[in-house]
Amino acid sequence: MKYGHFDDAKREYVITNPKTPYPWINYLGNEDFFSLTSNTGGGYTFYKDAKFRRLTRYRYNNVPTDDGGKYFYIKDEDTVWSPGWKPVKTELDSYECRHGMSYTKFKGSKNGVQAKVLQFIPLGFWGEIQKVSIKNTSSKIKKLKLFSFVEWCLWNAEDDMTNFQRNFSTGEVEVEDSVIYHKTEFKERRNHYAFFAVNSSINGFDTDRESFLGLYNGFDTPDVVADGKPKNTIAHGWSPVASHYIEVELHPGQEKDYIFMLGYVEVDENNKWESKSIINKKPAKEMIEKFNTVEKVAIAFNELRVYWDHLLGKINITSSDEKLDRMVNIWNQYQCMVTFNMSRSASFFESGIGRGMGFRDSNQDLIGFVHQIPERARERIVDIASTQFEDGSCYHQYQPLTKKGNAILGGNFNDDPLWLILSTTEYIKETGDFSLLDELVPFDNDTSRAKPHFDHLKASFYHVVNNLGPHQLPLIGRADWNDCLNLNCFSKDPNESFQTTGNKKDGQAESLMIAGLFVVYGKEYIDLCKQIGKNSEAVEAQNHVNNMIEAVKKFGWDGDWFLRAYDYFGKKVGSNENEEGKIFIESQGWCGMAEIGIEEGFVEKSLNAVDKHLNCDYGIVLNSPAFSKYYIEYGEISTYPAGYKENGGIFCHNNPWIMIAETKIGRGDKAFEYYSKIAPSYLEDISELHKVEPYVYCQMIAGKEAFKPGEAKNSWLSGTASWNFYAITQYILGIKPSYKGLEINPCIPSNWKGFKMVRKFRGATYNIEILNPENVSKGVKNVWVNGLKTNSNIVPILEKNIEHFIKVELGK
Ligand code: BGC
Ligand code: NOJ
Repeated sequence: MKYGHFDDAKREYVITNPKTPYPWINYLGNEDFFSLTSNTGGGYTFYKDAKFRRLTRYRYNNVPTDDGGKYFYIKDEDTVWSPGWKPVKTELDSYECRHGMSYTKFKGSKNGVQAKVLQFIPLGFWGEIQKVSIKNTSSKIKKLKLFSFVEWCLWNAEDDMTNFQRNFSTGEVEVEDSVIYHKTEFKERRNHYAFFAVNSSINGFDTDRESFLGLYNGFDTPDVVADGKPKNTIAHGWSPVASHYIEVELHPGQEKDYIFMLGYVEVDENNKWESKSIINKKPAKEMIEKFNTVEKVAIAFNELRVYWDHLLGKINITSSDEKLDRMVNIWNQYQCMVTFNMSRSASFFESGIGRGMGFRDSNQDLIGFVHQIPERARERIVDIASTQFEDGSCYHQYQPLTKKGNAILGGNFNDDPLWLILSTTEYIKETGDFSLLDELVPFDNDTSRAKPHFDHLKASFYHVVNNLGPHQLPLIGRADWNDCLNLNCFSKDPNESFQTTGNKKDGQAESLMIAGLFVVYGKEYIDLCKQIGKNSEAVEAQNHVNNMIEAVKKFGWDGDWFLRAYDYFGKKVGSNENEEGKIFIESQGWCGMAEIGIEEGFVEKSLNAVDKHLNCDYGIVLNSPAFSKYYIEYGEISTYPAGYKENGGIFCHNNPWIMIAETKIGRGDKAFEYYSKIAPSYLEDISELHKVEPYVYCQMIAGKEAFKPGEAKNSWLSGTASWNFYAITQYILGIKPSYKGLEINPCIPSNWKGFKMVRKFRGATYNIEILNPENVSKGVKNVWVNGLKTNSNIVPILEKNIEHFIKVELGK
């Protein structure tokens, strides 16, 4: 069953039934100021950091779900309704929600009145616009009452949800003209406030939640709306809100627009006050002035469209499969940008208070984003590297507001450092900007300990070399990418976090996934050394990589697939000898991508084993058989019920590793089968089962051993977005930036006749046409660059600012 449809021309997903199986959300904002908005108007807004600078309140895990947001109530005689259906939930005559590129539009109608709401955040602006257009489509005069509503968060979202003994006494607001200002804690240590404005005069307002709603009512039945008149309350403590009341009279056919703005202001210490206890409103007024007419709003909205035209214009394909085109051209790239902005902080599954920016996560997010705004990618790489230590280890996460590493989610995850080599080399290949390697980047955010960025990569590489275990394989530390495989944790206490507990200090557990990862990024490191003339370092590093390859062949091969690890006791994990968890996806992916034992047939054999044991109707599960009981020596992985999350779930982040490994042995049909099994646009028809948005990837789909295989969770913020984009564009479609040019090496289903890609690269436009007359999966036979035949499949860096035409023929 479907709940809407794609509108590719507008780059929108159009939801036509508000009762989606889960709230289907979108993100507004691109730089500093962000909102989450669901298909019924739920969600919240924050400045930079969803934990420390939250403007509006949101209650996670609420009943009913997704209650609270930026709401409008329209009272038309005795009928009250909302353009986005919620919160009032009056059955509408029509409903539509269009989630587009950083904007959302609602259109609802009831009893001859149509209301449209456009929500977006203008570029470079610290405020959200909500343009509300109300039209009388009936033949009678309509006298309507419009109420707006937002609920303020007292800035620190965690404290706001827990510290009621204090917070119920601190709330403060001011109201002037049609603007409601939220100034809690402004008089002491905060130099910022928020406001909610509308560009028309108002007939009243409310700022005290209980007065507006009534203590025993929900958002669906506010007292004030039922009474049809505001109480003009000024909040003192308790829960400050902002609601405007506007009387709207419309003749038949008449339409009126109102521009609401939810804004954020920072003032300097000496300019906080207009007069005693009255905040300085000048900056807010300037912001309001900027967008106080529909014309000004239209210009800003158009700028946003042009911005996205530009970003999405850098990679654009035309194939014979519209589901593929809409993923690659629109939604997957869009999700990569959102993931880059949010890391794992704020979604409808991440509460915005738990996780900041992850070291490994942020590095991986970059590979789906670097082509869009390389300058921001560069800045991000430096931010991440600044939280590293001299020995290559690093904090597992940092907070976006301070950019400082913290140990809340532990440290000592031994895969972490290697991802820095991935992000850096992908950045340089995309841009050619080797100067990043010379930039002085601090260790542990201490500028007196800054070293050239290259030294950070070297530290990353040698962190593995210096931390090998009994089989000369990498020590796993607290965990590797699979942070639920906690081999040194041994936790019996339910109050301990698996992420920070390590009860065995002498842990010698080793990871085959890190081994494969090290070979892949070790080779990248060597290649980079050669590019910049560090030849003896390249030779030295090559020895370490060779040793690792040998160690994997000797101690990491189980006969039909790669082992996953050696546990604390030196026992095999992910072996046919094990009763459960005989085979894992990660080591097949990474040792396959590393091509370890490819000549001996290891890679092909292990991928056949993946197909046989891990592949199922909805994707590739993480491990099989899933664990049915708690293994204290394995940790969190075995806490999940079979088929969910890291225990036999389809962890969509790692499926592309197998896709890429499949392309290494030329199996384009298999690679694409795996791609289309988890790409959301292919799952639209099973939305009822899939549950989450059909336009973005989720972290996990329940696996074959689950109670409900195919049901998905944790949409939006996951490394899944960038890895799938990377796999489809660079390995399956096979167009890959390299130091010397664009490498073309597709690995596609053999029945494809070809495809086209427009690729903006190093300032030039490459119009690439791939032809597949012999129905092969892989193999470049002929290449023409601007009509001239060449003998390399690396198309060189071509003249900037002009169009180039590349024709490629695949064949045997
Ligand atoms: C989840 C992981 C996540 C980790 C860190 C675990 O409970 O299963 O997917 O990475 O927490 O927050
Ligand atoms: C989600 C985390 O954000 C990521 O860092 C981790 O690698 C995966 N879960 C797998 O456990």
